Amino acid sequence: MTERFSFRLDATDGRARTGAIDTPRGRIRTPAFMPVGTAATVKAMLPENVRATGADVLLGNTYHLMLRPTAERIDRLGGLHRFMNWDRPILTDSGGFQVMSLAGLRRLTEEGVTFKSHIDGSKHELTPERSMEIQRLLGSDIVMCFDECPALPADRDRIARSMRLSMRWAARSRAAFGDRPGHALFGIQQGGLEHDLRAESAEALREIGFEGYAVGGLAVGEGQEAMFGVLDFATDQLPENKPRYLMGVGKPDDIVGAVARGIDMMDCVLPSRSGRTGQVFTRHGQLNIKNARHMDDPRPLDEACSCPACRNYSRAYLHHVFRSQEIISSMLLTWHNLQFYQDLMAGMRAAIAEGRFAAWQSEFHAAREQGDI
Ligand code: GUN
Ligand code: ZN
Repeated sequence: MTERFSFRLDATDGRARTGAIDTPRGRIRTPAFMPVGTAATVKAMLPENVRATGADVLLGNTYHLMLRPTAERIDRLGGLHRFMNWDRPILTDSGGFQVMSLAGLRRLTEEGVTFKSHIDGSKHELTPERSMEIQRLLGSDIVMCFDECPALPADRDRIARSMRLSMRWAARSRAAFGDRPGHALFGIQQGGLEHDLRAESAEALREIGFEGYAVGGLAVGEGQEAMFGVLDFATDQLPENKPRYLMGVGKPDDIVGAVARGIDMMDCVLPSRSGRTGQVFTRHGQLNIKNARHMDDPRPLDEACSCPACRNYSRAYLHHVFRSQEIISSMLLTWHNLQFYQDLMAGMRAAIAEGRFAAWQSEFHAAREQGDI
């Protein structure tokens, strides 16, 4: 295992890329999907189950963990990896985005954000420096810059000012992060849907220098077409020899489209959250297990899936335990959805490596057109 953080590209096919990020805690095969473990758990899953689906890296959240159980407590208990029993890489988001979407009363200044906890209303402050300290206390392998992400639609002036603030915060994040071999700091590009603001943001980040670069400020209500429109130019504005991470995306077809546009990493609550609400992802599209048509169906969710929900249980059983609000329903459906996402990534990695990504994409879309799931 390497002592340093490194990224290597093994193959490209069109704009799609496959490779690996090596960290002291293990390898991340790219394109990678990161299951979300917001509160030091991927809900309804044991860490070894998450690993069994093929996940190489999990995402954790500064915002949630600083409020409960606190970063200082996790540090005293040996860090987040030990605390949650996951010894592989962890990427942590920096908190700014979650403050804006979850916290109660909040105030934004040049210095940072003060806000009231969504849990108990207590008052807190996050700055680039404090976010770096929290992510260090957690023991995060991939640390995200502290940024601000305006909700779309927003006017150009608001987006430009917000992006420039995020770039000043990126410089402060870099300085506060310090020299930590084996750990990486990623910059986050902002700039809404505007080509020139995205270019200005990318330039500012490249000047500072990061181990990886994220595309932020997307999947915030702009729709797939607009998001792909930005990715058509935004990924190429970021360094080719560093990992590119699209934050908070997405549905399976969003993920495929992002990989086709040069993205290497993604995260989303969708597979795990949907598992708890009865939404199931399959090669042929999405189904809702709550639907009465599954009541007498002896077939598995997906004949081709190797997960326990598909190997050992019928749609009828999964329908029954969902309707009965049994805990095993969340466990099995989450496992299946995470397995589906990881199989999707593995399929894309293999196709890119073998130079048949365009054909793989056609098959992916054809299977979804078929309908009848
Ligand atoms: N998660 C989804 N989008 C974003 C973003 O723009 N910034 C951060 N920090 N997290 C995100
Ligand atoms: Zn399955």
